[in-house]
Amino acid sequence: MKFTSTFFATTAAFVASVLASASATPLTRTTRTVFTPPVTYPHAGTVWFSGQTHNVTWDTSEAPSQITNKLGRILLRKDGVTTPLILAENFDILLGRIEVKVPLVVEGSDYQLNLFGDWGDFSPEFTIQGYGI
Ligand SMILES: *[C@@H]1O[C@H](CO)[C@@H](O)[C@H](O)[C@H]1NC(C)=O
Repeated sequence: MKFTSTFFATTAAFVASVLASASATPLTRTTRTVFTPPVTYPHAGTVWFSGQTHNVTWDTSEAPSQITNKLGRILLRKDGVTTPLILAENFDILLGRIEVKVPLVVEGSDYQLNLFGDWGDFSPEFTIQGYGI
């Protein structure tokens, strides 16, 4: 996959829509508890291959008893930009792990995951390699 200007335009539009929907949602701090679960796998040094299945894991030990948004979503991020590629969604954020299939993407060592519960958290940068061709 080559990152084209169309891709970046799509990503920019996506980011803009996320920001717009975030600001359109009124935050009532007294009733909402923001939970930002830290990603524990993949970590720095992790190498994934396209097509593999892995458990993404995160720490739920600090989870408050009341969470505003219990549904999680994981997006792929590359070179500091969150892409529209969804690896998993609509899972319980309190599970602490979810299986994802590594998509076929350009090889790189600057991938991160963006785990969303109430709020987004980034994994450390890790590597995705291709099918070995
Ligand atoms: C993910 O974790 C579950 C529970 O520990 C396990 O059953 C499953 O095999 C794991 N998947 C992979 C791809 O390791």
